[in-house]
Amino acid sequence: MFGAARNALHLSRLRLLPALLPVVASQRPRHVSTASFDPTIRQFLVKLGEHQPCFSMHSSKVTIMHEPRIFYQNLLNMIRNAKHRLFLSSLYIGHEDVELIETIRTSLQEHPTLHVYLHLDLNRSTRPGPDSTARILLPLLEQHPDRVHINLFRSPMLKGMMARIVPPRFNEGWGTWHPKIYGADDSLLISGANLNTTYFSNRQDRYLQFTDQPRLADYCFAFLQAASTFSYKLLPSPGISGEYTLHWPDTSTHPHRIEAKAQQALLEFQKVQRETSTVRPVTATEKASLDHEDDVMIFPIIQAGQFDIREEERCVSLIFQHLAAQQKYTIPQRWLLLASQTVSAAVMNSHIACRILAASPKANGFYGSKGISGRIPEAYTLFERRFMAAVRQADLEWPASSSSVFPGVQLHEWERDGWTYHAKGIWVRPTPTEPPALTLFGSTNLNSRSAALDTELSFVLATTSPTLRQRLADEVDHLRAHAHPWRGAQDSDSRRVRPGTRALVAVVGDML
Ligand SMILES: *[C@@H]1O[C@H](CO)[C@@H](O)[C@H](O)[C@H]1NC(C)=O
Ligand SMILES: *[C@@H]1O[C@H](CO)[C@@H](O)[C@H](O)[C@H]1NC(C)=O
Repeated sequence: MFGAARNALHLSRLRLLPALLPVVASQRPRHVSTASFDPTIRQFLVKLGEHQPCFSMHSSKVTIMHEPRIFYQNLLNMIRNAKHRLFLSSLYIGHEDVELIETIRTSLQEHPTLHVYLHLDLNRSTRPGPDSTARILLPLLEQHPDRVHINLFRSPMLKGMMARIVPPRFNEGWGTWHPKIYGADDSLLISGANLNTTYFSNRQDRYLQFTDQPRLADYCFAFLQAASTFSYKLLPSPGISGEYTLHWPDTSTHPHRIEAKAQQALLEFQKVQRETSTVRPVTATEKASLDHEDDVMIFPIIQAGQFDIREEERCVSLIFQHLAAQQKYTIPQRWLLLASQTVSAAVMNSHIACRILAASPKANGFYGSKGISGRIPEAYTLFERRFMAAVRQADLEWPASSSSVFPGVQLHEWERDGWTYHAKGIWVRPTPTEPPALTLFGSTNLNSRSAALDTELSFVLATTSPTLRQRLADEVDHLRAHAHPWRGAQDSDSRRVRPGTRALVAVVGDML
C-alpha cells in the first residue's frame, strides 16, 4: 500500500497572483507530513490529495466563531480593513443590509487602491421591485464604476419550458450560485451564511476565519475570477441614472448554454491549482531538512452537478469508505436532512457510529412560508421518517436515550426559540471521546439538490493541533446545545405531512 514516505506530502509554494495584488507573502515552501495525522484519516488525506488542491497553514491562523452576531462584526471589520481586494460571494444581499453596503462604500473611499468583487446569483439578485440586490448595489457601482465588479451567475437550467412554468419564488430549485466566501486581502471568512440580516442575527450557521493566508485567499479569488467568465456583469445603464444593464462577456457562448464552457473553466482552474499546490511525497532527506511544519491541511472541493463536476460526492463517499473500514465516530450536521440518497446510503453502509443533527420543522427557514416552499419542512419530516425506518430495518438505530456508543445512527433535531438552523458539515472523531480531527465545511447543503443543481465550494480541514481539535469539539457542543432527540415520528400538528406534500415529493423527489 503506502510506504512511510508516501504519507508525507510536500506542498510547493507556487502562487497564482491576481494582477492587482502586490506580492506580500514569502515564497518559502510549506510542508505538511500526513504521518502526524490520526491514523483514522491519514489514508483518506493521501487519497484526497491525489484529486484536490491542498493548502496548509498553522492552526493559530484559524478562528471558529459560534454566533451570527460575531460573524457579522468580523465581516464588517474585514471590509473596513481591506486595502487591495474585497471579494464577497453569496446568493444575494438582503435589502435591509444598509450597514453592510455603507461599510463597503466607506472602505472604498478610505482605500483608493481597493477593488470590490461581488459574485451573486442572478435570479436571486434581480427579483422585481426596488428591493432587489441589483438595485441596492447600483449606487455603489455608479459611484465607483472602475473599482466595483459585480458578477451574476445565471443557472443554465433556467431555460425552455422549465423557466416558464416554474414560479419565480421556487426557481432556486433549478440551480443557484451558492458559494459563500468572504475575502479581504489575504484573509477569509468561510460560512454557509448569506449576506442577509437573519444570517447576522438569529439563523445559526458555521463561520471559519483564516487570517493571513495568501495562497488560500488567492485560490478563492481565482475561483471567482474563473466563474466570472461564465457570468453576467452588472453595469449602470449608460445615460440613465438608477437603471442597470446586464452585460454578457462572451460573444461566442450563448448565456443560456454555458454548460460546456463552465465545465471547462472549472476543471482547468482546479487542475492548475492542483498542479501548483503539488502534493507529492517528501523524501526522508527532505523531511529532515524541513524548517517548520504546518499543522492544518485544507482541501477545496467544487461541486457543480449542472456542469458534471462532482468532487464533493467523491469526497463524501471517500470519507465514509475510509471510516467504514475502521468503525469510527462521525457527526454530520445538516440543515436539510437526508434528502441525499448518497449520504444516507453512505451512513447506513459504513457501520460507524454516526450522530446526525437536522433542523426541526420550526427551525427550517421555510417554516410557515406560503405556497410550495411552506411544504419543505413537511417534506423533510417525510424524508426523515423514511430514513429512520430504513435505519431500524437494518437494525442500526442508536437510541438517543442510550449512552453506549456502538455502530449505529442517532438522529437529533435542532430547535431554538426565534431561531432557524442552517449549519452544515461533517466532523470526524477518531474515537467517541476524542475531539474531531477533520471537518467538512462550506456552502454545501449535503443534499441532492445541492449536489445536482447548485454550484458549491466546500472544504475539508484536517488538523493535528490539539487546540484546534478542541475548538472543533466546542463548535459541535455549541450546535448540540439546542439539539433534542428526533420527534418526527410523532403525529403532532407540527409534524403533520399533508397528502399534497406526499404528492409533491413523489414528483420532485429529493430535489427540494
Ligand atoms: C430569472 O431572471 C431573469 C432576469 O431577471 C428573468 O428574465 C427570468 O425570467 C428569470 N427566470 C425565471 C425562471 O424566473
Ligand atoms: C432576510 O432577512 C430578513 C430579516 O431578518 C428576513 O425577514 C428574511 O426572511 C430573510 N430572507 C431570507 C430569504 O432568508
